[in-house]
Amino acid sequence: FAAVDVIRAKRDGGTLTGEQIDWIIGAYTRGAVAEEQMAALAMAIFLRGMDSAETARWTGAMIDSGERLSLRVERPTVDKHSTGGVGDKITLPLAPLVAACGAAVPQLSGRGLGHTGGTLDKLESIPGWRAELPTEHIVRQLDTVGAVVCAATPSLAPADRKLYALRDVTGTVESVPLIASSIMSKKIAEGAGALVLDVKAGSGAFMKTVRQAEELAAALVEIGAAHGVATSALLTGMSTPLGAAVGNAVEVAEAVDVLRGGGPSDVVELTLALATEMLALAGISGVDPARVLASGEAYETWCRMISAQGGDPEAPLPEAAHVTVVPAPETGTLTALDAYAVGVAAWRLGAGRARKEDPVQAAAGIRCLAKPGERVSEGQPLLELHTDTAEAVPSALAALEGAYPIGDDTGNDDAPAGSGK
Ligand code: URA
Repeated sequence: FAAVDVIRAKRDGGTLTGEQIDWIIGAYTRGAVAEEQMAALAMAIFLRGMDSAETARWTGAMIDSGERLSLRVERPTVDKHSTGGVGDKITLPLAPLVAACGAAVPQLSGRGLGHTGGTLDKLESIPGWRAELPTEHIVRQLDTVGAVVCAATPSLAPADRKLYALRDVTGTVESVPLIASSIMSKKIAEGAGALVLDVKAGSGAFMKTVRQAEELAAALVEIGAAHGVATSALLTGMSTPLGAAVGNAVEVAEAVDVLRGGGPSDVVELTLALATEMLALAGISGVDPARVLASGEAYETWCRMISAQGGDPEAPLPEAAHVTVVPAPETGTLTALDAYAVGVAAWRLGAGRARKEDPVQAAAGIRCLAKPGERVSEGQPLLELHTDTAEAVPSALAALEGAYPIGDDTGNDDAPAGSGK
């Protein structure tokens, strides 16, 4: 094969053969296809698309560029992947909950980049907790605890690591076949028998509209089926942050509240919905995740999961040096709280990073003290901005401009009695 022929074929709207796909991904991973050639091919795919068979083969070639973990454990394995959102800490209560219900949950996760947070960054706010684990540790912990949340090992889908970095700088990220194959190559290589996808739609999500999210969800599920992994997808909203906490340590604290039987209702509901779907795909019936959550068994599993990775689940979490309260500018109904704006503000406060190498502040983030639809009074605290770097506050406030509109005071008058907070 010659790379230029593969590029031309896709440029002219053709369908790539399986052999062409296997060859170009393999050669690119080895460094035998140049970055500029892969950039041209990625742009041709961006413009011309790939059909289901091409996308499934492309995913397979990316899996085969590295190692596929073999998770030989007694219990059925099942994982969850979220396409990412603001305040999305669901993995934290979900993994121990599903483990406490009898499945094994290998959750190999990433760090945050841009306005969405990373699960590993959140967990690293727990004193002593380690993200990097050797494969033997992952398998042992799955057997003994049933859940592990850790960094993806470098041997998983190395082609995707290279290609994602290239897409990032060539305007070729936003292509459904490329996104779907990227996500699924990493998840299938991780070796779980079943996978539930939480595909988000809204301002704080990767996919801004429900239609785009549906298209991505369908592509993801098709790839799973083609590779023999039982896959299903839930479509969930991301126009306002999930729960009340956005950041790192503040999100861990909220997840612990959920595991102890409290926490915001939207976080509890989504955790239970995903747990129910995961248990169904894993073939575990007759266990009610709501009961297991209420019994404290999920919290016990959380403590064991954190301890097994060097963390102290009882240690106090870091607290920010500066807390700035944003009050409601007038009395009325909070009509929206924009997820994207809150995500950007938390990022500017230090919770996220602009470049892969940047550190994050464990204590930085935002607490949202009111939800859209709630009545608020002028001067009532709406948001709390937490940071160790006070000079970051003005730019966080600028990101929040227009993000919490307050409407007509009569907006909620028809709400049934007792529905308030
Ligand atoms: N997340 C991924 O892992 N890959 C993409 O291409 C986009 C989002």
